Amino acid sequence: MNEHSLSTRLERVAEHVPHGARLADIGSDHAYLPVALLRRGAIEAAVAGEVATTPFQAAERTVRDNGLEQQITVRLANGLAAIAPADRITAISLCGMGGETIRDILDAGKACLNGVERLILQPNGGEPPLRVWLMNNGYRIVSEELLRENRFFYEIIVAERAEPVLYSAEQLYFGPLLMQARSPAFLAKWQRALRLRQKTLAGFAQAQTVPDAKRQAISRQIRWITALLA
Ligand SMILES: C[S@@+](CC[C@H](N)C(=O)[O-])C[C@H]1O[C@@H](n2cnc3c(N)ncnc32)[C@H](O)[C@@H]1O
Repeated sequence: MNEHSLSTRLERVAEHVPHGARLADIGSDHAYLPVALLRRGAIEAAVAGEVATTPFQAAERTVRDNGLEQQITVRLANGLAAIAPADRITAISLCGMGGETIRDILDAGKACLNGVERLILQPNGGEPPLRVWLMNNGYRIVSEELLRENRFFYEIIVAERAEPVLYSAEQLYFGPLLMQARSPAFLAKWQRALRLRQKTLAGFAQAQTVPDAKRQAISRQIRWITALLA
């Protein structure tokens, strides 16, 4: 993967970035996503934010090698602190991090959100707590996608500020739009998850020190997944 040829995962993320957006890509690593989008003329400008020095330098190098220093600002910053009001950001991508990390970045940076940005989130696991944060902070999930690349399943959650919306516990767990669409990848993900949880529960039967709450949580998930797949 590079700025000329994105992974399938980032290519799908790119599809959700509105044409002409001013994008903040937080946790940008090599800045492949904003550079690829700018090279295609798909966005107007971007900020690439990175908290760690080595990926920050990699992002600077990709931007420089492509002569995009005027259009892409690379900032060494923690989370949404990379964004300034003068950037007039209209879309924020947070990809390739755990769902809890993405949630914590959004929560810590609430003051940096102007309310008009589209959030394009690609968590690596931990999707339910991220959806809870979105619901509790006035966001509606406007699009969801599940894709499979190299044996891994990835979810993309796109959210926009909207009237308050209440999702059920199952919708927060599976994704309200994913469970409506029931794509082949979605069903395959949950068939695999069901097998894993059944194995875990069987393992609990041998162990003596598993807390009841943990056993109950896995049993509840098995019930939900079985009902979903029925
Ligand atoms: C696995 S990489 C993903 C890179 C790219 N977004 C992608 O999806 O391919 C995660 C990146 O997020 C950065 N990161 C983690 N926490 C961050 C934070 N609080 N603020 C900014 N960047 C962060 C890490 O340094 C790392 O480079």
